[in-house]
Amino acid sequence: MSDFKRTLVTCALPYANGPVHIGHLAGVYVPADIYVRYLRMRGNDVLFVCGSDEHGVPITIKAKKLGCTPQDVVDKYHGIIKQAFSDFGIKFDIYSRTSSATHRETASEFFKKLHDDGKFIEKESEQYYDEEAGSFLADRYIVGTCPKCGAEGAYGDQCEKCGSTLSPDELINPHSAISGSQPVKRATKHWYLPLDQYESWLSEWILDGHKEWKVNVYGQCKSWIDGGLQPRAVSRDLDWGVPVPVEGGEGKVLYVWFDAPIGYISNTKELLPNDWEKWWKSEDTKLVHFIGKDNIVFHCIVFPAMLKAYGDGYILPENVPANEFLNLEGDKISTSKNWAVWLHEYLQEFPSQQDILRYVLCANAPETKDNDFTWKDFQTRNNSELVAIFGNFVNRAVVLTHKYFCGVVPQNLKPEDIDSETLAQIPQIKKDLEYYIENYKFREALKEAMNLARLGNKYLTDTEPWKVAKSDMDRTASILYTSLQICANLAIAFAPFLPFSTEKLNRILNVEQLPWDLFATEDILKSGHSLNPAELLFAKIEDEQVQFQIDKLNATKAENKQNEEKANINEEPALAPAKEECTFDDFMKLDIRTATVLEAERVPKTDKLLKLTIDTGLDQRTIVSGIAEYYTPEEMVGKQICILANLQPRKIRGIESKGMILMAKQEDGKMRVVSPEERLLNGSTVG
Ligand code: 2FM
Ligand code: ZN
Repeated sequence: MSDFKRTLVTCALPYANGPVHIGHLAGVYVPADIYVRYLRMRGNDVLFVCGSDEHGVPITIKAKKLGCTPQDVVDKYHGIIKQAFSDFGIKFDIYSRTSSATHRETASEFFKKLHDDGKFIEKESEQYYDEEAGSFLADRYIVGTCPKCGAEGAYGDQCEKCGSTLSPDELINPHSAISGSQPVKRATKHWYLPLDQYESWLSEWILDGHKEWKVNVYGQCKSWIDGGLQPRAVSRDLDWGVPVPVEGGEGKVLYVWFDAPIGYISNTKELLPNDWEKWWKSEDTKLVHFIGKDNIVFHCIVFPAMLKAYGDGYILPENVPANEFLNLEGDKISTSKNWAVWLHEYLQEFPSQQDILRYVLCANAPETKDNDFTWKDFQTRNNSELVAIFGNFVNRAVVLTHKYFCGVVPQNLKPEDIDSETLAQIPQIKKDLEYYIENYKFREALKEAMNLARLGNKYLTDTEPWKVAKSDMDRTASILYTSLQICANLAIAFAPFLPFSTEKLNRILNVEQLPWDLFATEDILKSGHSLNPAELLFAKIEDEQVQFQIDKLNATKAENKQNEEKANINEEPALAPAKEECTFDDFMKLDIRTATVLEAERVPKTDKLLKLTIDTGLDQRTIVSGIAEYYTPEEMVGKQICILANLQPRKIRGIESKGMILMAKQEDGKMRVVSPEERLLNGSTVG
């Protein structure tokens, strides 16, 4: 374990403009909760902080859409989110909100101090202004025709149709989403945090000092820092948020990404008004931020620069174990398209079955790459792992103990080698499990816990106490004694992952939660200890339950398709015409292989080109590819792709490019890289 005296764990504050879905859970909240429960079981001093992120333009947009106030929106969703987390067993010490008075004061003071200490630069720029509505327009409030794909209704920051990142100036025929009028440009002043001034400090702190961070996190930081940091505006012309507390700040609020991370501090303060500083300003505190990959830059670059600028002893994160994204049945989870499994709905549709979802989301967590959630996999993992392995083993051990020994842990009357050999495997399982959790590899850690259940199952199958009982009760006693020790170990090993089921198991074993220190020790359940009656730990998921969920998603898909067709009534998706036949030999000339992107950067003065450093398994090489329209450098780093490895090298913008990245064109013209379904060895041939 680490040298720190205490650990402060934060989870990304979810936007209170919608409920929480499985993507949020798998990326952030399930791993964080496992980590915290584990640390607590080991006796660490831990604080687990979260809350709703209640500012920002998406909330004002939602309010407009619903015809209510932003406060109504955040009140509604804050309530839903908070309740759902609690029902799902995510045990925060505090779940507050950024509309709280403590937060407003803390964020305001933070801004004011940076301002008064001269840490900001002030700049005037031309922004779109809606003369009819009498307000400046955030990028999201400007809509127009997408310059890339021609879709109507693209936003000033993004086209949802083709996914391109846009700036309001690129939109064709821009108009205000508030009044529909054509906006004009008007000068406005904002405060900027000059991130460029923190570049070498950040480089030293992260790139030299935190090489142990996850590859995806480190890679994104490297790509941002190497690309050169720019000053970032920390205020906005908006009437929803924390008001800018300095002269000239009238009608302006703090940018949501300035105030949200301060929410971690305010929420700590709200919980511990007299004792919060030791969590934020002591070198003895280990700070860990659990987030999704879209939040990396804010937690690794912007917020640390804010804390550094503030000074006063604020600590920096020791680690930021960000996850990639979880997809749903092969498609990107989307709140606006209702393509999601919503936590509050799951809790209603699968009452008292929180642990199945916790298990599946951890077993399939997008730790190193985007992953897919399917209802079929949910059913399989439950029925053939939780029910068939863990549940089955515990049930057999407890039922047989009731049958032969009236539910009392028998004496170890006739031990044999197989007993000690089986129990001797537990210390290694414990060691591996600890290593994996402490290094944020929760999938692997969970596998170890399940291996322990497998061990128990195999032991019972090998020793067959139901047969032995016909002739040798002393030996039966030893077998069940050994099995019950494994059950007790399982009640410890699974506790961070499956709190509801381990609570049930504790009830069956008639124990309070066993401390971590007892894991892999001898004689945890003493002979003579009485068990409670057996209960099933897990129930099977039936085909109809899964079908119901699939039907629900199909209905959503059909509805989305209908809406899209209505919108594109005149647009015919055009597939590229078929090409001329080629021979087998022609095809065999192509050397197509899997490779991983190590680094990615934009080629200066171009819109479309990325320069990528690729590990092909055979070598590391550079490929220049016209994919900047479809992927940011940060999105590319860490991705496994397929390349044509033996394409003749050629110079593009003075850079030698060796190979080509395989991409598929969607019907809307957008290109996506072709990736293997599972991560393979780099250099695996494709054909
Ligand atoms: O991406 C999001 O959902 C943001 N609301 C996360 C904020 S994290 C923190 F900085 F508050
Ligand atoms: Zn577009």
